[in-house]
Amino acid sequence: MNRGKFIGKFLEAFEHKIELSGNFAVNAHESTDAKQHQTNSVFSEKWDKYESSEERTRLFDFQRKWYLKLYGFESEQALGEHLRASPVIFDAGCGLGYKAAWFAELAPQSLVIGMDFSGAAAQAARNYGALENLFFVQGDIADTGLGAGGVDYVSCDQVIMHTESPERTFAELARITRRTGQMACYFYAKKALPRELLDDYFRSRCSHIEREKLWAMSEQLAELGRRLSLLKVEIDVPEIPELGIKGGTYDIQRFIYWNFLKCFWNAELGVETSVVTNFDWYSPSNARRFSESEVRAIVAANRMREVFFHSEEACYSGRFAHDE
Ligand SMILES: C[S@@+](CC[C@H](N)C(=O)[O-])C[C@H]1O[C@@H](n2cnc3c(N)ncnc32)[C@H](O)[C@@H]1O
Repeated sequence: MNRGKFIGKFLEAFEHKIELSGNFAVNAHESTDAKQHQTNSVFSEKWDKYESSEERTRLFDFQRKWYLKLYGFESEQALGEHLRASPVIFDAGCGLGYKAAWFAELAPQSLVIGMDFSGAAAQAARNYGALENLFFVQGDIADTGLGAGGVDYVSCDQVIMHTESPERTFAELARITRRTGQMACYFYAKKALPRELLDDYFRSRCSHIEREKLWAMSEQLAELGRRLSLLKVEIDVPEIPELGIKGGTYDIQRFIYWNFLKCFWNAELGVETSVVTNFDWYSPSNARRFSESEVRAIVAANRMREVFFHSEEACYSGRFAHDE
């Protein structure tokens, strides 16, 4: 299919209510909600900074592998087959757009649209202009502007917890998912009580802390994580159910990370990636966490069923489809 046909399909998906400039369109520039506005601003800053990092490709490779596990695709080939059977694909909260670009390459005959509320959407459009089936939109995924039931595969990976109302966002993504389509979604999992309390406390304070100090704190947290992991100490932890601490043998850095403080450190991914991962958790005003039953309730409230469900310490994720 040529570019012209994809442009026609893109405009159709938005019911001709959007103006396209090359491979980029703006549906909403700014949020009127203060917390979403702050969240967009920190993500714009994060992506702007990370865009030039040499560690990017390592993170993208790691993320693509994780994506297959999170959403139950046995291999990249299996994901490709699913995408090729999906004429319209939507990457909700696409960040720098590398997953949208991956989808577009795996399914060259499908239309792929990536949307992000931060400045990353425009950056993604600049980076991936060569893919004729790929378009980017700056806009709110809780109010996409897409027609009802027009998308065959919606992917909302590591995003919904950062939107102003995850319930409203999920309902919007369900609305645009075709009756025969599927929606893949990731929910950040609630952690042990000490970590939850600290996360909430930091979140209420961080929006008043200058950005430079937040970056400095993110570096300090990565350094703490690095020093803890260098200890190579394993600890046998008893189950403490009242605090949500699960018993078992942990590396000391992971134990502190899951239960007390997000001091992310991953030597393979690199220093910059570790620092932005800490920044991207403590800086946005919007960062909800979910229990498994909360996730299942959101899915059920939208009359959707589970096609695939996955849980791990970090998250709950799955693919959902409309009830018959
Ligand atoms: C942790 S990043 C994940 C990005 C990408 N999905 C990935 O896996 O690399 C979360 C992204 O969600 C975007 N975001 C948050 N709220 C949004 C909203 N209401 N509408 C669109 N994008 C949003 C942020 O700007 C950010 O780029």
